Amino acid sequence: MLPVITSARDIKQKIKDFRTNALTVGFVPTMGALHEGHLSLVRQAKRENDKVVVSIFVNPLQFGKNEDFSKYPRTLERDCELLSGVGADMVFQPEPSEMYPPGFCTTVAVERLEERLCGKSRPGHFRGVAVVVLKLLHLVSPDIAYFGQKDFQQTAVIKRMVSDLSVDVTIKILPIVRNAGGLALSSRNAYLSETEKIDALCLYQSLTKAQSMGKAGIFDARKIAMEMEEIILARSSAIIDYISIVHPETLEDVPEARSGNVVAVAVRIGKTRLIDNVILS
Ligand code: PAF
Repeated sequence: MLPVITSARDIKQKIKDFRTNALTVGFVPTMGALHEGHLSLVRQAKRENDKVVVSIFVNPLQFGKNEDFSKYPRTLERDCELLSGVGADMVFQPEPSEMYPPGFCTTVAVERLEERLCGKSRPGHFRGVAVVVLKLLHLVSPDIAYFGQKDFQQTAVIKRMVSDLSVDVTIKILPIVRNAGGLALSSRNAYLSETEKIDALCLYQSLTKAQSMGKAGIFDARKIAMEMEEIILARSSAIIDYISIVHPETLEDVPEARSGNVVAVAVRIGKTRLIDNVILS
């Protein structure tokens, strides 16, 4: 049985025990409802560390008022089975009162980065992410923490925060895991109906188009975005939140799409908001 730790005191003690035995610690923060994308992070963490801790915490601070906090899938038993299968050593599942005790009033603002892309339609989201990730990093004090590239803006915010605040951890970003049709795996895919799952393929199809235009020597970011828009809007359930081509660190729009830039999209498929991205090569 995979040990599930629920208190800050206990997780700190466990980490202290690992350190006493000179064991390295890899950390994979999650909100549960695990899929192959999360498991790929855990497998990599297992290859690179002696011990792997996975946190499961649906963080209220990163959900807006009209977002899906209460209906976000919570599947602890299944998650633990999956984690045992890929060699995780411990789950940290803190109580909300442990993470945010009465009187909690601290925030972490990674200015500018938090306002771009998803930040426009999800104000406050990245502050919620930054607070919880910083707190988890303090509690688990891992050598390496692993995140998925699907949440590209989140990875940029976390890398900036860790660098700006001199947090003693290595951040590793691993590639997006996709289904056979190209849909990026996400816990929120569970909300999609069968027809919406087909419509949702338009995100990756539009990103693939951007890549192939770059390869064909078309770099004009506006031209690329227009072609992408056409592909997405051909799906009846799709409403575009944004299509952006940005610098990977500043997340500022670039006029010309060049190698290393990120093409990022957010699209509502029915009631479900999906994001995806590719790094141009
Ligand atoms: O990517 C997620 O699942 C969450 O944003 C994270 C990093 C676990 C923070 O709650």
